[in-house]
Amino acid sequence: MSGRGAPGDPGMATIGEALRQAGVSLGGTEARALMRCALRRDAAYLIAHAGKALDSRQQQAYEALVRRRADGEPLAYLTGEREFYSLPFRVTPAVLIPRPETELLVELALQRIPAGRDCRVLELATGSGCVAVAIAMQRPRARVLATELAPEALALARENAARHRAGNIEFVASDWFEALGAARFEVIVANPPYVAEGDPHLAQGDLRHEPRAALVAGADGLECIRTIVAGAGAHLAPGGWLLFEHSHDQAPRCRALLVAAGFGQVLTERDLAGIERVSGGRRGG
Ligand SMILES: C[S@@+](CC[C@H](N)C(=O)[O-])C[C@H]1O[C@@H](n2cnc3c(N)ncnc32)[C@H](O)[C@@H]1O
Repeated sequence: MSGRGAPGDPGMATIGEALRQAGVSLGGTEARALMRCALRRDAAYLIAHAGKALDSRQQQAYEALVRRRADGEPLAYLTGEREFYSLPFRVTPAVLIPRPETELLVELALQRIPAGRDCRVLELATGSGCVAVAIAMQRPRARVLATELAPEALALARENAARHRAGNIEFVASDWFEALGAARFEVIVANPPYVAEGDPHLAQGDLRHEPRAALVAGADGLECIRTIVAGAGAHLAPGGWLLFEHSHDQAPRCRALLVAAGFGQVLTERDLAGIERVSGGRRGG
């Protein structure tokens, strides 16, 4: 993308040329996502107008995005969007970028939330709101309460719920269970911070740009999970389920915590990559 000048100048790159050039290092999918963002147009527009020359403002905007991506900024923070459970979510650097493996948490929750009956569901630490919104959209009769400590994240979660017209979610600022009073739920889900403080992955990839408070949970990564397992019993209805995501090597310790806290039917499920990803248990009747 070396061309400069007025639109129509033979030196200006066309959309197709700019995509091809950026695609060499970023790959076609990312190059197109950034072009959609720079032009504020959809994918069909890029195909239909591949031969159209970018004007200098568009070219500068695109080059800036390509540079930032090449420097390692997460694609989702540059485009402001990430898909989760086939729904688009707005994301900003105030929230964790929704991960495909977290869809397992949604699946396991949905298996325990009846479609045709009322059900009270709690999501702790909602971030962008992706888990709560996905559950609420799939189970319109459920009443979902989503909590979060970070005010910017809570505001974004509310915005995402409004975007999808998920009217069966309520959002509450809370440090874990603190603001919940004596409320009880049939299902509690959480994707809490679970990375250990010294984990070298924190200095790699997207994690470098994500909020530390969304990732890190003490020396062994289990600090938040311990709080959740210890507190969940007091907020579960008899027979209710607690389900939470964790790191690839934390499942045995999570199951031990659940057993020690008196949960029954303790389980761990693997994600699509075969990694132990979600553990949980049931409160006795
Ligand atoms: C791993 S992110 C999960 C976000 C979202 N649920 C998802 O799956 O993409 C963890 C979230 O926990 C929130 N958090 C951290 N400490 C918390 C606390 N003490 N109480 C409530 N939420 C907390 C963070 O702000 C962050 O949004």
